[in-house]
Amino acid sequence: MVRASVKVGSAKLVVICVGLLGFALIADFLWASTSSTLPTSKPSTLVLPREKINHSKDYQNATASGRFLAAAYADLDAPLLKWQKMAPAPVPRLDGAAIQIRNLLFVFAGYGTIDYVHSHVDVYNFSDNTWGERFDMPKEMAHSHLGMVTDGRYIYVVTGQYGPQCRGPTAHTFVLDSETRKWRDLPPLPVPRYAPATQLWRGRLHVMGGSKENRHTPGLEHWSLAVKDGKALEKEWRSEIPIPRGGPHRACVVVDDRLFVLGGQEGDFMAKPGSPIFKCSRRPEVVYTDVYMLDDEMKWKTLPPMPKPNSHIEFAWALVNNSIVIAGGTTEKHPVTKKMVLNGEVVQFNLNTLKWSVIGKLPFRVKTTLVGFWNGWLYFTSGQRDKGPDDPSPKKVIGEMWRTKLKLNE
Ligand SMILES: *[C@@H]1O[C@H](CO)[C@@H](O)[C@H](O)[C@H]1NC(C)=O
Ligand SMILES: *[C@@H]1O[C@H](CO)[C@@H](O)[C@H](O)[C@H]1NC(C)=O
Ligand SMILES: *[C@@H]1O[C@H](CO)[C@@H](O)[C@H](O)[C@H]1NC(C)=O
Ligand SMILES: *[C@@H]1O[C@H](CO)[C@@H](O)[C@H](O)[C@H]1NC(C)=O
Repeated sequence: MVRASVKVGSAKLVVICVGLLGFALIADFLWASTSSTLPTSKPSTLVLPREKINHSKDYQNATASGRFLAAAYADLDAPLLKWQKMAPAPVPRLDGAAIQIRNLLFVFAGYGTIDYVHSHVDVYNFSDNTWGERFDMPKEMAHSHLGMVTDGRYIYVVTGQYGPQCRGPTAHTFVLDSETRKWRDLPPLPVPRYAPATQLWRGRLHVMGGSKENRHTPGLEHWSLAVKDGKALEKEWRSEIPIPRGGPHRACVVVDDRLFVLGGQEGDFMAKPGSPIFKCSRRPEVVYTDVYMLDDEMKWKTLPPMPKPNSHIEFAWALVNNSIVIAGGTTEKHPVTKKMVLNGEVVQFNLNTLKWSVIGKLPFRVKTTLVGFWNGWLYFTSGQRDKGPDDPSPKKVIGEMWRTKLKLNE
């Protein structure tokens, strides 16, 4: 009898331990992926040391010896760059948005923590390298995962996620006059989209891809709206040729009358069913290297792929001398730990040669950077950085601003 009850007891203990381990892993994924180290969320106390996750020699060999170094998620060889640390943004932000107009970088929205989202704009002045002005966004405007583009004065703000955690997107669409700082409404997108690719092309505001309302299911739809000087010239969006592959978190750039869509992913965190706070829960994701282009023919063409899968780069790019320069991002998850992996490279896509190259290392791996280019300097601010040189999984949400002298390849 005694032995039997001991057996039951230890079986229970095992179940409890396994349960705790599972919970700790889930908490760790969430912590590592969408939240920050700021004090509103607390799962860090539940995170077990990494070596507790898998005792297998094989695992330890694989991670220690770099057996997977050739894998998609590994760091790429890159020249070291000299980075200069500038004044940090007034607040840390993840999944924010940024638009550069001449010497000013307008930085919008974003998560401060997984439970708190910003609804204001901070402005950085490249001429004197200071953060100055701050102004509010409209109450109905989304707080993260926005589509955003400028014509040089008006900033078009399309759809995006409304609220913290893993709430869904809104269809609300706005325009900001960057000179008067006044906001206006635009016709809402036909349906809400989460992190769609957005650009101005041939007098029309184009919005494509992103995720559907559940945040996870890739959308292929593509719409456009005629706009001029911050006003819609039409009442409704029109359907355009769908993009071959859907999903959020891509860079979208118009150069020389051609529209490019770079990188991205299929799938994303979703709200846990029934959770009153729409608590984020992880879902399978595929990060890809795809590059698509639209030109005169209005048919999608496939261009040379990125050097490695890259996502969370909507505002992580600058266009310099006919090259698209991209800083950081996320790549495929680690095959053994299943943790998210951040990118720490600056890559260049030369549009003269259609060649990709890796032109430098960032001071750390980081996703959802907000990038600007001014007077020879490449700047980035914000995002979520890695745990350290040996651990590429996401940790702290930052407001830091860094710059380096940009040297492009031929
Ligand atoms: C781990 O790596 C060492 C050195 O390469 C090797 O001798 C050993 O067999 C490996 N162990 C396993 C379990 O793969
Ligand atoms: C530990 O790692 C090994 C080698 O990658 C893997 O085959 C095994 O399934 C892992 N065990 C657990 C419990 O994750
Ligand atoms: C940016 O800085 C320059 C140099 O100090 C200054 O002349 C200019 O007025 C500033 N612009 C804004 C919008 O603050
Ligand atoms: C861009 O081109 C101009 C003119 O050729 C050159 O002076 C400049 O250094 C280039 N910029 C970069 C970052 O390579």
